[in-house]
Amino acid sequence: MSELAQEIQAAVASRRNFAIISHPDAGKTTLTEKLLLYGGAIHQAGAVKARRAQRHATSDWMEMEQQRGISITSTVLQFDYQGYQINLLDTPGHQDFSEDTYRTLAAADNAVMLVDAAKGLEPQTRKLFEVCQLRALPIFTFINKMDRPGQESLELIDEIEQELGLQTFPVLWPIGIGDQFRGVYDRLRQEFHLFERSEHGRKEAQETIIPMGDARIDQLIEPHLYHQLKDELELLDGVGAELDLDLIHQGKMTPVFFGSAMTNFGVKLFLEHFLEKALKPIAYRSSKGAIEPTTENFTGFVFKLQANMDPKHRDRVAFIRVCSGKFEKDMNVSHARTGKSLRLSRPQKLFAQGRESIETAYPGDVIGLNNPGMFAIGDTLYVGPKLEYEGIPCFSPEIFAYLRNPNPSKFKQFQKGVNELREEGAVQIMYATDPTKREPILAAVGQLQFEVVQFRLMNEYGVETRLDPLPYTVARWVVDGWPALEAAGRIFNALTVQDNWERPVLLFKNEWNVQQMETDHPKLRLSRIAPIGF
Ligand code: G4P
Repeated sequence: MSELAQEIQAAVASRRNFAIISHPDAGKTTLTEKLLLYGGAIHQAGAVKARRAQRHATSDWMEMEQQRGISITSTVLQFDYQGYQINLLDTPGHQDFSEDTYRTLAAADNAVMLVDAAKGLEPQTRKLFEVCQLRALPIFTFINKMDRPGQESLELIDEIEQELGLQTFPVLWPIGIGDQFRGVYDRLRQEFHLFERSEHGRKEAQETIIPMGDARIDQLIEPHLYHQLKDELELLDGVGAELDLDLIHQGKMTPVFFGSAMTNFGVKLFLEHFLEKALKPIAYRSSKGAIEPTTENFTGFVFKLQANMDPKHRDRVAFIRVCSGKFEKDMNVSHARTGKSLRLSRPQKLFAQGRESIETAYPGDVIGLNNPGMFAIGDTLYVGPKLEYEGIPCFSPEIFAYLRNPNPSKFKQFQKGVNELREEGAVQIMYATDPTKREPILAAVGQLQFEVVQFRLMNEYGVETRLDPLPYTVARWVVDGWPALEAAGRIFNALTVQDNWERPVLLFKNEWNVQQMETDHPKLRLSRIAPIGF
């Protein structure tokens, strides 16, 4: 084996890449901070916290971000732990939930599903879970906030099994909850991990480890908690599934961990189990079949474009997931869509707010490239024989509005701006089939996308626009195209539009109308996602 092949193989073996899927407030920022703390990047943990606390003061990113105090860009956090190189892809949430949140999952090999113990599964988590399932990503569940009163642990497990159709294997099981939370029992290591609260979890938590069968446990846990734990463990051993790594890797079984990110209970154990069981960088499907990450030729694809990160330069950054081979600064690669060759200079690794130049990157890593304007979402870069990765799907938008240009003298700038922002993937654009209504319909998954589009049309193209909201919340692509739609006859309670590739899309006011339509027209196949590009 060549030296390069060995180098790539070692890099792949030590890399673990994941994204956290959760609903706002479940504790994603807190968990991220604690993971970084265990990764030894203590100052970085502080940086994450600072980003939350002082967004107005420290952010030098897009002007809008400063005005609103929100983080528009998702970043990649890289840290080491016990010989592993970990890439945590940050998924934007809260008000900045957008298609980028979904697209980030296209660059992830594993997902950590973070659940608030009191609230159980929440809407944003369910949506992101669906996207993970499209790629059959392994899902690791962390049930957080066990230091506060919450739902019964068995009920939470049941909810995941019933509602998401995932088998569960609880690895860490909680001992008590709320004020009585004493720690966790590790079912694989057969150890009790008893924790002491650290002050707001700023330090690594102190823990006492006691093996199963050790008599000291009687003095350390109140008898009623111990009995409850024993009963629950017996139940899990009796009726629960066995741990099956293959099923985990196929996204059909989720290992479950209970803990408290804020007080640092269970985070380290979670990280260690996760690193052991998570998938290393995976093969991606392409026009040439699945490409193994250890293939020597560098390949990667663009999963996200970010404009105006630095208002002084108005530059754009393309985020590339490295899929195979070794990336080196200044290397020459081919751009599959245009057939052009280009030199990848000024690569950046994106870590929190800092931008650090990088020399090399390996499969599972993400690099930021200054975009000369030629990249679009889903574009493939490669060295060697031509190939294209299969692209990133468009997801069903949830908000729709006509975008109006009230000033006819700005028509050209308006058209140019709309086209460029669409190409960049800032928003989806649809058109009514009625030729008298040719104004673009903006379609997005989050309100912020609309604001960004209007802001950028004004700032970059000098066009002031107006939005007229439409009353739809669900889009479905007609799988078999226009002939199938015509054959179905008259459609009630839906607006027929076409997407940018002139494919038919139906817009509905609510899910109920979709179901009604499916009952009325059982032969018409509808899909909530549409592939981008080829
Ligand atoms: P997010 O990024 O998912 O939106 O959540 P974030 O980490 O910001 O956490 C949301 C709130 O939940 C924060 O409280 C945080 O401290 C709290 N939290 C996170 N993990 C735990 C946990 O394990 N136990 C408990 N009890 N609380 C937790 P906040 O009041 O909004 O902020 P702060 O003043 O605590 O920083």
